[in-house]
Amino acid sequence: MNEIVGYEIEGRVAVLTIDNPPVNALGHAVREGIVTRVEQAVADDGVDAIVLIGAGRTFPAGADIREFDQPAREPHLLVVVDRMDTIEKAVVAAIHGTALGGGLELALGCHFRVASPDARVGLPEVNLGIFPGAAGTQRLPRVAGLDNALEMIVSGKPVGAVTAHDYGIVDAIVEGDLRPGALAFAQKIIADGTPRRISSEPRDGIGAPEAHAETIDRYRDLANRRFRGQESPHQAIESVVDGLRMPYDEAVAADRVRFEACKTSSQSAALRYAFFAEREAAKIPDIGKDVAPRAVKSAGVIGAGTMGRGIAISLADSGLPVTVVETGQEALDAGMAELAKLYEAMVSRGRIDEATKAERLARITGAIDYGVLGEADLVIEAAFEDLDVKKDIFQTLDGVAKPGAVLATNTSYMDIDAIATATSRPRDVIGLHYFVPANVMRLLEVVRGDESAPDAIATGMALARRTNKVGVLAGVCHGFIANRSRLPLVREATFLIEEGASPAQVDKVLTDLGMPLGPLAVSDLSGLDVSWRMRQSLAADRDPEARYMHLADRMCELGRFGIKAGRGWYAYEEGGRHPQPDEEVEAIAAAVAGEQGIERREISDDEIRARCLYAAINEGAKILEEGVAARASDIDVMWLYGFGFPRWRGGIMFIADEIGLPEILSQLRAFEAVHGKLWNPSPLLERLAADGGSFTR
Ligand code: 3HC
Repeated sequence: MNEIVGYEIEGRVAVLTIDNPPVNALGHAVREGIVTRVEQAVADDGVDAIVLIGAGRTFPAGADIREFDQPAREPHLLVVVDRMDTIEKAVVAAIHGTALGGGLELALGCHFRVASPDARVGLPEVNLGIFPGAAGTQRLPRVAGLDNALEMIVSGKPVGAVTAHDYGIVDAIVEGDLRPGALAFAQKIIADGTPRRISSEPRDGIGAPEAHAETIDRYRDLANRRFRGQESPHQAIESVVDGLRMPYDEAVAADRVRFEACKTSSQSAALRYAFFAEREAAKIPDIGKDVAPRAVKSAGVIGAGTMGRGIAISLADSGLPVTVVETGQEALDAGMAELAKLYEAMVSRGRIDEATKAERLARITGAIDYGVLGEADLVIEAAFEDLDVKKDIFQTLDGVAKPGAVLATNTSYMDIDAIATATSRPRDVIGLHYFVPANVMRLLEVVRGDESAPDAIATGMALARRTNKVGVLAGVCHGFIANRSRLPLVREATFLIEEGASPAQVDKVLTDLGMPLGPLAVSDLSGLDVSWRMRQSLAADRDPEARYMHLADRMCELGRFGIKAGRGWYAYEEGGRHPQPDEEVEAIAAAVAGEQGIERREISDDEIRARCLYAAINEGAKILEEGVAARASDIDVMWLYGFGFPRWRGGIMFIADEIGLPEILSQLRAFEAVHGKLWNPSPLLERLAADGGSFTR
């Protein structure tokens, strides 16, 4: 009989156990198994009620996403769910872990639901570019009420068992073991003769859409704000609205057409790609599960500047005691005061309460003596970006850190191997590159030096998980993966201004692509002087034949450092942060263009898009062929979490495959002919384009 869904009888209750590790996804075999076992229980005279439960860590966490690219196979999940309506015996879903998507829809098809106290239920489909396709949009509003249902469906966020109970999704919370609790619940239903609850039946109090116009508009707004440019939350809302104006069967029929369109959309393909890319990034090809991370029970941070403070907060928020070390008492006091202000701001924004603030702040202590770092299992250096300064720090650290402590640098572009040579233990040295603000941004670039030990790298990846970040491995090169692949986009953005585009035009093209801010607005925010200093530090190695960022230099020479100076690529009102177009920039650009012999012209949005995007893709390809990135999808994960690139576009390498590598290559060659050697196509890209290959598929 069916191996994947078990069948046992206990006191006139059939227990159907779904066993499809790791998350009991509702793939074809599972759906078939459920149908087989349910029919067996229906036909079994010794059975009065059915309990559906998941083996292992969870009730089904959804449809099997890997099957989405294959032709749908019967029985469809909707048929499985709808079958429950016509079963005369009571069916109880016993939920633990995460009943998500199709898992919750299956549970909603059951007549009753019980859950463990720590279970979570949700409909996260919008995050995959689809909406609940097995009647979740029809049944949940009937069970939980329209507002609660829309909140769960549009946000995609799961709720805990207690909230699910308040919403009416869960009938009872089972303390202790779930299975005996669910059995007892089912037996009581039999004994009491409790009528079955069929969630496809109309619910009192839910009227036509017109009666809910305000609620529906509120969720349309939410969808626009939280998922800018993304289609699926809107489709989910339309599906719910259909359910208000049509009988169940008609609404479900309309859903089938809408669901198919979503499933086959490029947004859904990109979002599903992002889902797996993120999980893949957590796996390092040559560091298996057998390599245990080192134990980290306390940490040190060197430097109480912007980065150091953010890192300290991120560590303390995860429960780690942290010591922040500064060079002098004054700098330390100033840094600690700023750090306290950051926590203060979290309280005033309602993110945490006073007690949490006090608890987290108490985990952070300051010191001006490196000796205190002797106790730390992990030290993260976040000092000034100067190789000599960093080498000095690591030499000192070498003298005080305990054996086996991981010594990390937060440098954003320097040579980790050079820093490691300042110690007698290069195996313990890694890069942990945070993004600003470090306590908020989810990306953590874990940089592996030539000598970094596998378990030191595993420790960095484990730290990312522990601090709710997405850790992605990078090799050593100037700027590592994220910043290095983004730099050409910024470079082209400034070249385009030299050639005649305005900062607002360039930024708009990129925000229209879905980026939260354009590259020039970002430069103004972070300060144009940051990359100016970096260009100066690289001046000796600059290729004289390659085009150079003269305009960006000129902006800095004129003191146009961005928001902090009140002017950069845009002008800002006194103390303001809202960018205003500035004619002076055009004049400066025209002057620099004249000096460089660049003819200014009208520039199309298409050219801006292609120049910015393809420059980044070409660099991504070089990063990949050099082995700095283990896979193309790692580059994309960095863009999603480091730069807020729209998830529904997958990432730059995914876009490259979507456009087609031969097309990208021919554009690169065309740009090379006009703009010179910075556009040399990556040999890997050339090879893949010639062989019909791709980066991500
Ligand atoms: N289908 C296929 N594989 C899945 C899956 C799914 N729905 N959910 C998780 N997996 C896989 C992951 O890819 C991963 O595989 P790997 O070990 O080979 O990398 C493995 O299961 C474990 O997943 P995580 O590493 O994410 O484990 P966590 O414990 O961190 O998280 C989870 C578990 C919360 C269930 C998380 O995996 C998750 O959010 N999964 C997706 C849930 C989801 O979106 N469900 C809706 C699916 S669409 C749907 O149901 C359509 C329906 O309406 C018709």
